[in-house]
This record gives sequence, C-alpha cells and structure tokens, in this order.
Amino acid sequence: MRPSFSSPFFFAFLLCIIIHGVTSQENLINKTCKTFAKDDPNINSNFCTTSLQAAPASQCATLHGLGTISIRLVRYNVTDTRCNIKHLIKDKKWDPYVKQCLNDCLELYSDALDSVKKAMKAYNSKRFDDANVEISSILDAATTCEDGFNEKEGVVSPLTKRNNNTFLLSAIALNFLHVLQTGSD
Ligand SMILES: *[C@@H]1O[C@H](CO)[C@@H](O)[C@H](O)[C@H]1NC(C)=O
Ligand SMILES: *[C@@H]1O[C@H](CO)[C@@H](O)[C@H](O)[C@H]1NC(C)=O
Ligand SMILES: *[C@@H]1O[C@H](CO)[C@@H](O)[C@H](O)[C@H]1NC(C)=O
Repeated sequence: MRPSFSSPFFFAFLLCIIIHGVTSQENLINKTCKTFAKDDPNINSNFCTTSLQAAPASQCATLHGLGTISIRLVRYNVTDTRCNIKHLIKDKKWDPYVKQCLNDCLELYSDALDSVKKAMKAYNSKRFDDANVEISSILDAATTCEDGFNEKEGVVSPLTKRNNNTFLLSAIALNFLHVLQTGSD
C-alpha cells in the first residue's frame, strides 16, 4: 500500500518522524521484543516485532502505549478466532469428537473475549495484577483448546495456527504487564 499524501495517517506519520524519529521508535519495539525474548522462552523476537510494527499507531507509542497495543492485538485475535470457530461448527460436518472439541473451544474463546475486555479495563486503570490474571487465562485457554484435539490420536486441530497466535500474543502482553508492574525494563 502506498501512502496517500492526503491521508490523515500520512500526517500522523510525518508528525511521528518530527517528534520521535522513526529509527528510535523502531528501536523501542525491537529492543523491547529482544529483551522479552531473552527472558521468556515463549517469546519469539521476530514474531513480537512484526506483530507490534504492523499495528496502527505503534510507531510513536511509548512503552505503556505498546502494552495497550499488545492487549488490543490479543482482542482482535480472540474475536476473530471465536467467529471462525462458529463458522467451522456451522459450515462443516465434523466427526463427533472434533465437534465436541470445537464446542469446547467456542466456550473457551467466549470466556477469553470477556477476559480481554476486563484486562483492557484493568490496564487502563493501572491494575496490572488484575490484567495479568485475565491475560494468563487467555493464554491457558488457547493451550487448552489446542490440547483437546491432540488428546485423540489421528485428530488434526483445525485451529493450531490461531491458538498459537493467541498464545504468543498473550505472552507478549504478559511481558508488557510484567515490565510495567515492576517498573524495570
Ligand atoms: C527491527 O526488527 C525487524 C524485524 O525483526 C527488522 O526487520 C528491522 O530491521 C529491525 N530494525 C532495527 C532498527 O533494528
Ligand atoms: C492475529 O495475530 C497475528 C500475529 O500478530 C496476525 O498476523 C493476524 O492478522 C491476527 N489476526 C487478527 C484477526 O487480528
Ligand atoms: C507458533 O508460531 C511461531 C511464530 O510464527 C513459530 O515459530 C512456532 O513454531 C509456532 N508453534 C507452533 C506449535 O505452531
């Protein structure tokens, strides 16, 4: 996509260069993701950098702002995955075991959607402990959903990629919460 000179995003982009400098911001995302990856085996530095950089308004964001973005990314993924599961259940005739797994996942992702909304509220009022509890439950939900399929031999999860994304994005959000909670980086 080429930037349009009349687009408000272009002006936001220009402003961004003037105020912060794109290079230093690229470094904040990269530096933060590298630190996370070093301390947490669940974090893939490249996935972290790519996800954050692709998000709107991430280029100018502070550490706190990047934390907000990371929770928003979890929310988009959870919302989209929940909708996808609904379609999967409706659109195809599944083996009863797989169908049961999909129903379980739908419930898990419905609860996860609740959790991510609560997490955002908690984050906005700096209750990082509460946000941590909610995001942790989402990370667990993605794992539980995936494990359900893997418990029976020969069953292939149709949600591996999505569960993985939700897991990885939740892990990133948890790292932001940790840094902001302890004030260290
Ligand atoms: C930041 O990371 C991305 C992806 O890993 C890389 O393409 C980019 O060159 C890095 N930028 C800087 C300034 O290190
Ligand atoms: C979920 O997250 C992944 C990784 O950041 C991203 O590529 C994908 O587009 C996201 N999906 C939605 C619906 O936001
Ligand atoms: C999850 O995604 C990451 C990044 O794309 C990848 O490195 C990893 O192998 C994936 N894990 C699984 C279990 O698919």
